[in-house]
Amino acid sequence: MIKNFYITTPIYYPSAKPHMGHAYSSIIADFFARFKKIDGYQVHFLTGTDEHGLKIQRAAENKGMETSKFCEEISQTFKNLTKTLNLSNTDFIRTTEQRHKKSVQHLWEELKKNDDIYLSKYSGWYSVSDEAFYNDDEIEEIDNKKIAISSKSQVEWVDEESYFFRLSKWEKPLLDYYEKNPDFISPESKKNEVISFVKNGLKDLSVSRKSFSWGIKVPNDDDHVIYVWLDALTNYLSALNYPNKDDLLFKKFWPASVHLIGKDILRFHAVYWPAFLLAAKIELPKKVYGHGWILSNEEKMSKSKGNILDPIEIIDQYGLDPLRYYLIKEVSFGNDGNISQERLEDCINSDLANNFGNLCQRVTAFTIKNCNSKIPNKIKFNNDDLNILNKYEKNLNIIRSKIDNQNINYYIDYIVNSLFEANKYFNDQEPWKKKDDIIRLNTIVYTTLEVVRKISFLLYPIIPDSSLKALKIFNLSEKDINLNSIGNNEFLIKGNSVNKINILFNKIEKKDD
Ligand code: MSP
Repeated sequence: MIKNFYITTPIYYPSAKPHMGHAYSSIIADFFARFKKIDGYQVHFLTGTDEHGLKIQRAAENKGMETSKFCEEISQTFKNLTKTLNLSNTDFIRTTEQRHKKSVQHLWEELKKNDDIYLSKYSGWYSVSDEAFYNDDEIEEIDNKKIAISSKSQVEWVDEESYFFRLSKWEKPLLDYYEKNPDFISPESKKNEVISFVKNGLKDLSVSRKSFSWGIKVPNDDDHVIYVWLDALTNYLSALNYPNKDDLLFKKFWPASVHLIGKDILRFHAVYWPAFLLAAKIELPKKVYGHGWILSNEEKMSKSKGNILDPIEIIDQYGLDPLRYYLIKEVSFGNDGNISQERLEDCINSDLANNFGNLCQRVTAFTIKNCNSKIPNKIKFNNDDLNILNKYEKNLNIIRSKIDNQNINYYIDYIVNSLFEANKYFNDQEPWKKKDDIIRLNTIVYTTLEVVRKISFLLYPIIPDSSLKALKIFNLSEKDINLNSIGNNEFLIKGNSVNKINILFNKIEKKDD
């Protein structure tokens, strides 16, 4: 049976070049995409840029550039980042593309047809930075400036004719949906926040703007552009060629398996988006996961605080896989996490260089010297060997279900423990003292090589490039990685060559070392 998996990142505003927060969402999404791929799923992984609205129009004006030219340039930096981060995305969508405009206008017409859209007037607060409307009780005044309490961004007063979406009508159906689908909003800690927001009462939502023109036009009313969030959220459908529901992509991948987002945009994804979809009679995504923030010096990164971390600079200094490993391991998934260069260096030295890199080097060097550079032929497992080998088969379904619950912390702990055990096994078994018992020596080598193979498979979603380098020891490549084979304790073909590989991770000399 073909299993499909559709994962999305938020589409990023091309208002300034990408920072570590954007890289984080994308790397995590890539982790899930790669895991599912090696577990036999057909994966659709979407990312892209959200290019309309006043925020982008003003950012272009500030640079004195034509808006479309400005978007083109910055969107390209996000596209380049997908390569720099080694993302396995299968599509990159820009909301200025024709395929997207068509979908958005169609969705609008569906909402209109079902009487979910009406013309009225909006008078209230708007934050251009968040592209969000705020009620009076969501605003505070600091230094004579009106600020949105949740995001701390400045708001301005808007008074203009606007189309409205009957969000209030969907309050009860949304609450019912959350109840019947307890996993729809994750993690659990964020769910209650959303539910109480909805329970407090939903007001109809302004879904068009008249005072600027950088957006998708409302069908049959050229004076209005569609609200940028209604426009942006639709990207998840337009990338599957909605409204063509007979399209193969749509049939295979809708509803989405997970919309991975930062917690800052949970309301849009867990309230507005499902309400639009219910109104348009389109199935709802299976899950919206709001991860925490990457903090720099314990604060959310922002231009005004001057604490923006540039992923490219870190990658230039340490390499991509160390950054991927660090972000996946050290930021407890679902919570905020402070990024620190010192911890990153510790991860490289202890986990990557000492535990993984060293194990690969030791066992290959030993095999080359003592087993004629071949995967040993005659072996006989004892209980010590089976103990370390069998746990992968035993735990595979647990790992799968942890991943389906986005429990990345379990996954990474599993790998760290496995590496520790593998090193301990090799040390304790002392194959260098078994030169008189060739079968025992062979078996220890074979077992350790098998464990290196299994762990390299598990590391592939986290550090794909380094995992592939390690698998070169066995002449294995990407197409050979398959989770189902992880329980096979004799996957490595006896008598095949074992290759020497270059050092996988260079240790960082620390100042206080
Ligand atoms: N364009 C909207 C999303 C539309 S999705 C239909 C948007 N864009 S954004 O450029 O501001 O990027 C938002 C996303 O980037 C966040 O939801 C989060 O996933 C990620 N991050 C931005 N800053 C972040 C941190 N400091 N830490 C972690 N992720 C953060 O909102």
